Amino acid sequence: MIIAPSILSLDYTRFNEQVEILNNSVEWIHFDVMDGHFVPNLTFGPDILKAYRRSSDLFMDVHLMVTDPDFFADVFMKAGADQITFHYEAVEEEKIPALIEKIHANGCKCGISIKPKTEVSVLEPYLDQVDLVLVMSVEPGFGGQSFIEHSYDKIRELADLRKEKDLAYKIEVDGGVNSANAGKLVSCGTDVLVAGSFVFKGDMEANIRSLKEAE
Ligand code: DX5
Ligand code: ZN
Repeated sequence: MIIAPSILSLDYTRFNEQVEILNNSVEWIHFDVMDGHFVPNLTFGPDILKAYRRSSDLFMDVHLMVTDPDFFADVFMKAGADQITFHYEAVEEEKIPALIEKIHANGCKCGISIKPKTEVSVLEPYLDQVDLVLVMSVEPGFGGQSFIEHSYDKIRELADLRKEKDLAYKIEVDGGVNSANAGKLVSCGTDVLVAGSFVFKGDMEANIRSLKEAE
């Protein structure tokens, strides 16, 4: 199981210290890009990703919560992203395969994400093309929200589809993840746990350890 701390909750007065802890304790960094249109919040641009790229060799897992992921995919791939995950809800269905192909053509992994109210079934046509499916377990836009219980059913459904169709996409969950729900999330089929507030509040190393132990 992979832990992907969301740097939405990093303490920017302690950037070097906290990034060093990440470098020594996890494999991925989850990078929440918000444009103030797709979600009512505004976060990072490519220059911040470049700063992380200079400070860390970890896998940069970029989550685009933007209305124009076709444009921002290029921007963040140029800035050093290792994976670009866009939202199903932000792209016209007929344009989704081309966006996945463009991301792959740049040597980048590609993920597709659904919001809590979007059903797993809409993703079926794309599951054989993507490397990862991101299940939002909170309404996208802010860290520190409560986990939506219905998310377990969506993870189970994705795990069943993966087995049925003999596919290999990773299942990632993002929002309200903590040591109390991590074990159940993994047992339902989750491969990647995104956690922001749980990781960065208090003792980071102890928080990360408690997620790893929850397997
Ligand atoms: C929401 C963000 C958050 C963040 C994690 O749009 O994607 O889910 O990554 O936030 P926590 O772990 O604080 O819920
Ligand atoms: Zn995210």
